[in-house]
Amino acid sequence: MYGICNNASVFYSKAMEIIKSVKELKAKVSALRNDSKTVGLVPTMGALHAGHASLVARSVEENDATVVSVFVNPTQFNDKSDLEHYPRTLDADCKLLSGIGADYVFAPSVEEVYPEADTRSFSYPPTDTVMEGAFRPGHFNGVCQIVSKLFMFVEPDRAYFGEKDFQQIAVIQAMLADYVSRGEEWAMRLQICPCPIVREDDGLALSSRNALLTSAERGIAPNIYKALHESVEYSKTHTVEETKQMVVAQINSVDGLTVQYYDIVNAATLESVSNWGDAEHIQGCITVFCGATPIRLIDNINYK
Ligand code: PAF
Repeated sequence: MYGICNNASVFYSKAMEIIKSVKELKAKVSALRNDSKTVGLVPTMGALHAGHASLVARSVEENDATVVSVFVNPTQFNDKSDLEHYPRTLDADCKLLSGIGADYVFAPSVEEVYPEADTRSFSYPPTDTVMEGAFRPGHFNGVCQIVSKLFMFVEPDRAYFGEKDFQQIAVIQAMLADYVSRGEEWAMRLQICPCPIVREDDGLALSSRNALLTSAERGIAPNIYKALHESVEYSKTHTVEETKQMVVAQINSVDGLTVQYYDIVNAATLESVSNWGDAEHIQGCITVFCGATPIRLIDNINYK
């Protein structure tokens, strides 16, 4: 049950409030802080699924209050049509969030977040220049713009991000370290909490973009994780290069799937490795085009 309370906010249930304005959001979280309550932030672009739900559930468990932002951030899209087609399902999102126990949903307009163009530029090479950074120029700059704004609006104790976007977490960690080095108090207090990928029973990583797949595309998409999963065993007796080739060949052999890139990287720096002994933790990161549209799906796997 919900009703309009005033122009700025909508009460969804007794327990969850939808906030549209930055001013109101700041007032709510500052009241919580004055009351010595801890605040968890879960930044999202909406079209929520069980993967997001797991982040929110963890935040609810670990903090006194949880803010979930639902905002399709235009500055991180380097493809206009991708931005236009991104699914927007605020009503369903709010129902899901209310059931998990989120306290505030911040769902602002673009004008509210960007009253003027954001000209700030963020650069953390190689973290933001390799892989997604190379194929989606400007993407991580846009992610840093919105995430830094959300961090400054909410000043959370913890912020939760899904490991499906493995590179995004590394970029956000680098951005946070930058703010810490500049002595920003909110940054010093903030802890980034990476959360494990949630998968369908057939292995497909949950993603808001899965909603855009036709049933034929949905049928072939699990081959991405199948190849990644099988490559872990394969890697035990093969080189890094052979393992890369195996993953790419196996996925490309499926009609309708085309690998854009597959890289096996040092999980800390995101630089490519040549040998399994090159880094303590090694991750394989992939992007695959699925179907005719095509839908761009990302995934990753840990080797060690
Ligand atoms: O991962 C996402 O959904 C987005 O990149 C984020 C972190 C919410 C910023 O818009």
